[in-house]
Amino acid sequence: DNKMKVTMTVNGRERSADAEPRTLLVHFLREQLGLTGTHIGCDTTQCGNCTVLVDGQAVKSCTTLAVQADGSEITTVEGLGTADNLHPIQQGFWEEHGLQCGYCTSGVMMDMVGLLKENPNPTEEEIRQGLEGVICRCTGYQFIVKAVQRAVEIIKESGQPISEKQV
Ligand code: FES
Repeated sequence: DNKMKVTMTVNGRERSADAEPRTLLVHFLREQLGLTGTHIGCDTTQCGNCTVLVDGQAVKSCTTLAVQADGSEITTVEGLGTADNLHPIQQGFWEEHGLQCGYCTSGVMMDMVGLLKENPNPTEEEIRQGLEGVICRCTGYQFIVKAVQRAVEIIKESGQPISEKQV
């Protein structure tokens, strides 16, 4: 067969598994590595629910091949924080009720972590622009924007730059 061994650092741990040349990163993460927090909403680059960080940049994992991510550092929602120690973006969503059905939430959070790494102090307009690549069918975005604004405050209060991981 034409499988290749792919190795990447996922949430700080080196992980290897076989992938076919056509295997999408989202399927590799979910099926090969069992990281099902990354969701598939469309498979056609529309919804952003599959967003992860690849070498620190928000990427739609349904538009990336697993083999293209060989050797990369990946952060998925599982790497952000834990129930006892939420990442600021998770804390923001928790406090501001930034979700309803929750299906898009992991993608939205990863997209916004990518945004905040580039722009730690976004205006509401910049947050809304950043959300353009991610489709949420329930919230009307207002609560998501508030959640991101709350995350910005939490990060400022912490005095630390945003991290991909909670410490
Ligand atoms: Fe990747 Fe919709 S599943 S953009």
